[in-house]
Amino acid sequence: MNTQQLKDTVQALFVDGKGLLAMDESNPTCNKRFAALGIPLTVEARRAYRELIVTTPGLGEFIGGAILYDETIRQKKADGTPFVKVLIDAGIIPGIKVDTGARELAAHPGEKVTEGLDGLRDRLQEYLQMGARFAKWRAVIAIGDGLPSWGCIEANAHALARYAALCQEVGLVPIVEPEVLMDGEHSLDQCSETTDELLRTVFKELFAQRVMLEGMILKPNMVLPGLTCTTQETVEVVADATVNCFLRAVPAAVPAIAFLSGGQPAELASARLNAMNERFKSRLPWAVAFSFSRAIQQPALEAWHGQDANVQIAQQALLHRAQCNQAARRGEYTAAMETK
Ligand code: 13P
Repeated sequence: MNTQQLKDTVQALFVDGKGLLAMDESNPTCNKRFAALGIPLTVEARRAYRELIVTTPGLGEFIGGAILYDETIRQKKADGTPFVKVLIDAGIIPGIKVDTGARELAAHPGEKVTEGLDGLRDRLQEYLQMGARFAKWRAVIAIGDGLPSWGCIEANAHALARYAALCQEVGLVPIVEPEVLMDGEHSLDQCSETTDELLRTVFKELFAQRVMLEGMILKPNMVLPGLTCTTQETVEVVADATVNCFLRAVPAAVPAIAFLSGGQPAELASARLNAMNERFKSRLPWAVAFSFSRAIQQPALEAWHGQDANVQIAQQALLHRAQCNQAARRGEYTAAMETK
């Protein structure tokens, strides 16, 4: 393991207030988002949309790394230039989602375990040769009646740690993504409790698998009340609950926490990230950053709507969200940025 190389990659991903763009939706997920807007569910439509993203002028000023999907890392611009080259030329480091998705966990109704460890060492080598410098694996944990179970947390944490160790072996920085889902009626306190237990288990497993904390990135959920909870908390309450939870459970050796957006409205995700950085400025041992998919892409996807004529306006929408989130990383985001 080249530890300096891993640390350098993390540093480059988050330099100057930059964050990550998750554009690694699997084909079924991408198709679901296209279907909602009446965009054709074809390889070519997905390729054209990803071309729009990677060719957005100036994106590298705000985005340090882009997470790709297996289909996307092999794709090219219409003129034949590989997306990986386009990203590197724009100063954006390519990354790759390497899990093969979450499946039903046996004997645990309503719970899932993320798969993809079989053959992973060889796949990581292939992605490394293709230009990837970091990877991602997402585990999903649901809160519900009696959920999550200890077995589900343990199985997912173990897989995350095995994946992370394999990544570091070949020189890829692992993004470790344990996500507590927003679906449900649970309170902010319940989310905090579950997130705390999940994070402690994940770090116990990372320690057991000898993962070097300085060479990884944590990609967690924010601590939020469930989507259908009757009490929705203020931006400040969410920021405090989130950072306090992470201060207790995440070792200071981890260089960066890059939050997922999880379906939050784009502006709210920026406001919450901003509040964390503003309110805890001098007390944060890690970079508090973003690795959003929907909260960066959704306005651009809606503006594009599958039409060539809308590419420029969609790119402006994408760039705007990237810029807002860079400001939020610095604690300098304001609602006024949205009306400019
Ligand atoms: P969202 O920001 O849309 O939650 O996506 C992040 C991600 O990469 C999920 O794996």
